[in-house]
Amino acid sequence: MGALIITESCFGNTTALADAIGQALADSGSMAVQAIAVKDAPETIPDDTELLILAAPTHDYSLPRERTRTRARRRGGLLAGDTGLREWIAAVQPAANVKVVTVDTAFKAGFMPSTAAKTAARLMGRAGFNHVRRGATFGVSDYAGPLDDGELIRARAWAATLAAGLRSLTRAPGR
Ligand SMILES: Cc1cc2nc3c(=O)[nH]c(=O)nc-3n(C[C@H](O)[C@H](O)[C@H](O)COP(=O)(O)O)c2cc1C
Repeated sequence: MGALIITESCFGNTTALADAIGQALADSGSMAVQAIAVKDAPETIPDDTELLILAAPTHDYSLPRERTRTRARRRGGLLAGDTGLREWIAAVQPAANVKVVTVDTAFKAGFMPSTAAKTAARLMGRAGFNHVRRGATFGVSDYAGPLDDGELIRARAWAATLAAGLRSLTRAPGR
């Protein structure tokens, strides 16, 4: 069984986060990992996918929209392709049994009514995915990043814990 990580990123920080998570999942030895940009993401989840991780930057306390991507481009961000996770979720075929975990990047100071990960989890539930969990938010220090000190280490530890939890969920009784 495998993990599929689908990422939207304007400045590269969420991609770096996804890479760290993917590396830690692969290092756990429990699953094959494929990480792809959302522009290349299939609308049908491959049959061998046990875990689907969605990673996006928080824009206006939510998943990016076309107008926020335009603002990101004005700040020098380069989204590859015109589509993002919001559009992908609207088009994806539901896979009720796939475990979905959402993560995001955001400024961590101050009150946040919502984040990209929270929005993505809500939309995936509405899209027909039955096992959806909001994961974690990882901090960036400015619009273009970089990620806050220690966040990639925290991401790897978070992913290792996630892999261990999945193993215990899928282990046969008595083993
Ligand atoms: C248009 C725009 C809106 C943003 N809105 C928020 C926000 O509401 N809350 C927040 O914490 N960060 C916000 N940010 C900062 C992004 O979260 C940050 O740019 C992102 O985490 C960087 O990740 P990336 O390199 O993958 O694009 C915003 C950034 C942009 C460009």
